[in-house]
Parts: sequence; C-alpha cells; structure tokens
Amino acid sequence: MADEPLVLGIETSCDETGVGIVRGTTLLADAVASSVNDHARFGGVVPEIASRAHLEAMVPTIQRALDTAGIKASDLDGIAVTAGPGLAGALLVGVSAAKAYAWALDKPLYGVNHLASHICVDQLEHGRLPEPTMALLVSGGHSSLLLTTDITSDVRPLGATIDDAAGEAFDKVARVLGLGFPGGPVVDRMAREGDPKAIAFPRGLSGAKDPAYDFSFSGLKTAVARWVEGRRRAGEDVPVADVAASFQEAVTDVLTRKAVKACRENGVDHLMIGGGVAANSRLREMAQQRCDKAGITLRVPRPGLCTDNGAMVAALGSEMVWRGRASSSLELSADSSLPVTEVSVPHNDVHGEAYRALGGGA
Ligand code: KG4
Ligand code: ZN
Repeated sequence: MADEPLVLGIETSCDETGVGIVRGTTLLADAVASSVNDHARFGGVVPEIASRAHLEAMVPTIQRALDTAGIKASDLDGIAVTAGPGLAGALLVGVSAAKAYAWALDKPLYGVNHLASHICVDQLEHGRLPEPTMALLVSGGHSSLLLTTDITSDVRPLGATIDDAAGEAFDKVARVLGLGFPGGPVVDRMAREGDPKAIAFPRGLSGAKDPAYDFSFSGLKTAVARWVEGRRRAGEDVPVADVAASFQEAVTDVLTRKAVKACRENGVDHLMIGGGVAANSRLREMAQQRCDKAGITLRVPRPGLCTDNGAMVAALGSEMVWRGRASSSLELSADSSLPVTEVSVPHNDVHGEAYRALGGGA
C-alpha cells in the first residue's frame, strides 16, 4: 500500500554491506556486497578489512538498492541502521552513512538492534509476527531463545548460549575438517552425503538438571576436534561427511528440542527461527517435523534473508515507523555490545515523526 512506511535499512555489523528497501512489510530491494572472500585466508572475519570494505561498498550498494526499488532517496520515510551489536569499526561505517543520508535528506533516523532485525525480517515473507512469538535466534555471534510480543519494544530473553554461538561451532568444526570459512554452508553441504547417526556427539546442557533454555556448544566442538585428531593420529581416514552430519545433527537436535520446549512451557504456538544458522537445511527440516508434531506453527525466512542483509534492518525500521516509535537522534553512536533487549537506540523527542507524516497517530 502506498501509505505504508517506505524505509531504507543499512547493515554493516560484520562482513556484509547490506542495504534493503521495504514498504510496510513488502520487500522492494535487498542489495548485499560481501567481503567474505577477503577474510577466507585468515579463517575468520578481520575487523579492519571488514570496515574498509564497507566504506568502499556503501554508496554503490545504496544506489543499487534505490535503482532496484525504483525509488528516489527523497521518497523515503526513514533511514534505519544497525546500531549494534557487532564489530565496532564496521558498525561505525553504517551508522555514519545512515546519519549522513538522514541529515542530508531530512528524514528520521532509526538506530536498531541487529538481533531484533533478524527476527523482524520474517514479516517480509510471512506477514506480521503473531503476538506472542517465540524466536530462536542462531547466528555467528549469538544463540538465544527470545519471547516477543512486540518486536519494536518487547524482546525477552529466556535463554542463551553460555559459551560458543551455534554458527561459531559450525565455523570451528569446518576449520578442524579443513573445509574453509565460513563453515556453516559447507558443513551443511557435506552433511548431505553423510550419516547423522555415524558418531554420537554430545548434546550440551541436555541433562534433567541443566537450564532448560540455555545452550552450550563448546563441549561439542571439542568432542569433534578430539574425535578427528584421534583418527588422524591412528593414521586413519577422517570420514568428513559423517563427522559433518553427526555434528550438525547434535546442534539441530538441541536447538529444536529446546525451542519446542520453550514454546510448550510458555504457551506460545508460533516459533520463528532467524540468523545465519537458520539457513541450515537440516535445522529447517527438523524444526518443521518437531513443530508439526507439537502443533506449533513454524516461520523461517528463506535462507538469503537469514544471513546478514539490509532488508532485515529496513523491515524493523518500517515496523518502528508503523508503530509510531521514536526515532534516534543524529548523535546516535554504534554500540558493539548492544543488549538484545534494547531494540532501538537512544531516541530524541521527535516521537513518531515519520508515522505522523503518514497520517497516523494522534
Ligand atoms: O547472522 P549471520 O549472517 O551473521 C551474524 O550475525 O553472526 O550468521 C553467520 C553464521 C556463520 O557462523 C555461518 O557459518 C552460519 O551463520 N551459517 C550457517 C549456514 N549458513 C550460514 N550455519 C549452518 N548452516 C548454514 N547453511
Ligand atoms: Zn547476523
């Protein structure tokens, strides 16, 4: 609808320069420039390289998104940007760009949380999130179970990883297996050729007395490394596909079991899975099976919207405008450790400016 908020979102928290344009909950453009290949030989993201790549990619990526959406920057109702969490220098590039565009165009600025954006992006595919929704957020830096009734203001953490994030475990296991970086997609591919029951890897924090909604993947990662080293020391071949499949099975088993349990115990019948690891084919399949069995409706965005992108930031920005939330001040700064509960960052007193411009609110 033409009266829905038209918002541009900028994402630069890690190695993807993402620019998305959304009208209401409709995706108009999703431009992503990745520096992933520049980091591959280091086996992980190098912050300084990421920041420089964002700087080079920013303006062309914004232009590409505007061209794809077929709009002019002056048509926008707001500019949203990831204010955190993420790499400090990388975030700074996006925040500076967003501030410059907001100031030059005289549009409201919305500094938003990367993690809430990973959840909100699902609205672009499946419509508005039901209230409440349980979100399983699994990325390279985070693994959490979050209960949300309003994605712009109420995100309650029920549990999180006490050590490695799920994506981090994928990346580390891929390194042990010599599969390169990032590990998730290649482990996912290799696992299709392997037997998920070949090796019984441990399921972290799954005992009766363990915290029900917390995760731990560091023991699993070490168990995989030990198992592989043992084979190598004995001069035996490492069955890479079986290791990948068995490891992936252990991760997805724990994630889906705890997510379904969290839904059941909190009386929530919609589960959303977001973040880079939500692109995993086995996780998607197992979550669907277990949700079907438990009578829970599963919502997972398509893989391209699970990994970092600008559309997710635009989606949350658009929701902020729609709900009349306050915009951020032009003094907005990046916060590399922004807590998941802070969906947006220090606001000014221009309450619901863009919303009112659209004829909404009082
Ligand atoms: O959300 P994201 O793009 O960036 C962060 O916010 O961290 O997530 C990146 C993580 C990486 O650890 C990557 O290995 C993992 O998501 N990932 C996957 C898959 N695709 C990306 N993990 C498992 N299976 C996949 N298909
Ligand atoms: Zn992310």
